[in-house]
Amino acid sequence: MEDFKKIIVAVDGFSSCGKSTLAKSLAKRVGYGYVDTGAMYRSVTLYLLRNGVAIDGNQIEPIVKALDKIQISFKNVNGKNCTFLNGENVEEEIREMYVSERVSDVAAISEIRRAMVQQQQRMGLDKGIVMDGRDIGTVVFPNAELKIFMTADPDVRAERRYQEILAKGKLTTMEEVINNLSERDRIDSTRKDSPLRQAEDAVVLDNSEMTEQEQLDFALELFNRKTAQLVS
Ligand code: DC
Repeated sequence: MEDFKKIIVAVDGFSSCGKSTLAKSLAKRVGYGYVDTGAMYRSVTLYLLRNGVAIDGNQIEPIVKALDKIQISFKNVNGKNCTFLNGENVEEEIREMYVSERVSDVAAISEIRRAMVQQQQRMGLDKGIVMDGRDIGTVVFPNAELKIFMTADPDVRAERRYQEILAKGKLTTMEEVINNLSERDRIDSTRKDSPLRQAEDAVVLDNSEMTEQEQLDFALELFNRKTAQLVS
């Protein structure tokens, strides 16, 4: 049998573009690990909010102290990839609106980014990983063998997010969803440290009119082409 070398797949893009859905299904299909880096910033946000630590880049000392007390890990629970904060399963809570509203401010703080990027780079040491986020192809793994940059029409993204929230039985309005998405896009792409941008060697995937299966097929084709080039 041919021996395919393991690679790193970086999936970046705007909020609610379907990055995690694609990254997860690609990882499952090719037998790779999956890391949701947004969940890491969300977990830090949850910790700071719960512990009354000010989310303010000008008051960095309490934040740095808090970072020492934060342990984030991922575990599969009943077939679902779950995020753990200091041993507690916080997968549901980190998706709550009160976390979503502050996470972009948290992700703009350099000290926090540095700590998260270090952990992410450690997770990719053995390759064989699909990681999604905003800066994976530009900062975390600039040498990733395959980089996908996802985008979609803002209305399509808002509708998907809205349906996702309703499906969880939560109350929201379309206006609230649109405001949150556009505010996060603005902060994520204008922050000084590692703003969201497309890596020069990334392949753009606009999934406004694509099914999940079509997106997976697209990514699989890129993946197969890349790994075939690297047969050892
Ligand atoms: O992917 P998400 O919506 O769960 O991400 C939550 C926030 O974290 C979002 O505002 C962008 C930020 N983020 C980041 O700055 N860098 C990453 N690698 C991943 C997420």
